[in-house]
Amino acid sequence: MLIKRPEDVRPSEITEPRVYAERRDFLRNSAGTAFALAAGAAFPALLASRSAQAAAGKLSFAGGSALSTDETPNSLKDITRYNNFYEFGTDKEDPARRAHTLKTDPWTVRVDGEVEKPADYHLEDLIKTSQLEERIYRLRCVEAWSMVIPWVGIPLAGLIKRFKPTSRARFVEFTTLYDPEQMPGQRSQVLDWPYVEGLRMDEAMHPLTLLAVGLYGKVLPNQNGAPIRLVVPWKYGFKNVKSIVRIRFSNTIPRTTWALSGPGEYGFYANVNPTVDHPRWSQSRERRIGEFFKRKTLMFNGYEEQVAGLYRGMDLRRSF
Ligand code: MTE
Repeated sequence: MLIKRPEDVRPSEITEPRVYAERRDFLRNSAGTAFALAAGAAFPALLASRSAQAAAGKLSFAGGSALSTDETPNSLKDITRYNNFYEFGTDKEDPARRAHTLKTDPWTVRVDGEVEKPADYHLEDLIKTSQLEERIYRLRCVEAWSMVIPWVGIPLAGLIKRFKPTSRARFVEFTTLYDPEQMPGQRSQVLDWPYVEGLRMDEAMHPLTLLAVGLYGKVLPNQNGAPIRLVVPWKYGFKNVKSIVRIRFSNTIPRTTWALSGPGEYGFYANVNPTVDHPRWSQSRERRIGEFFKRKTLMFNGYEEQVAGLYRGMDLRRSF
């Protein structure tokens, strides 16, 4: 990636240790109550309109997923001010400063390709409040840093079933909005726009795979990929495509942005793998944002037990 090498991270980018447990307990408790009240409501009902949401921004969701890590989440500050979102610039601070130009309401997602129910869906029709849940996941960036993020979203599998993929659907491709007016970074040639990522169908259907619409109990901030982004916790962060406007089902492997930009450096699978180094740096260790000492990177980012079966029989050095 053109993105910074791990050593380039400045000390000023490392933030204080955070107020973890307290905040999480608070969120869990309030989440439970709100969820009970709002269960069954549709996305717009819960927020009346997403502009009103911007003021309050709170989401209702079920907490306490067995799939959540019990590690302490990074602070909201870390999560919202240290971002990769090249549509708004290549520095970590750029998205927080510049992503206010993105208009997320109304938002439509085109679903097409190998599905029985292709359509343009309003976000409100795609995501029902009653299905929202909190999942606290590790995110391991290919640049050898990591965070723990309390996402709010829905499992992608449920949504895919609604679209009724045909028997020819073997891959799913996700595309970010292309609009250089709203996304000034797209005026530069740093990547081949729009940003595209993809998954194999069984990866997309895996229970860990999430479409996130919020974090820390609130609607996603623009810099984190509002209003809807992918979260696949056992893969390098670049698979987690932001601000999705299209979900396409295909029979052939999608051409993905980073694999196109550096085929020797970024593969389609992008599974976190400490035994396969990036050509320009080691992937064996990582720095958790907010911590000083590096920690070991875990196979599949610590989700080995859940996902290793997806890759049985594959050579993960070749299919990186
Ligand atoms: N999606 C788009 N559209 N553009 C990007 O530049 N960066 C990726 C991913 N999704 C990126 C993107 C990378 S490299 C990472 S590490 C994660 O977003 C970062 O997500 P976060 O900023 O919410 O932590």
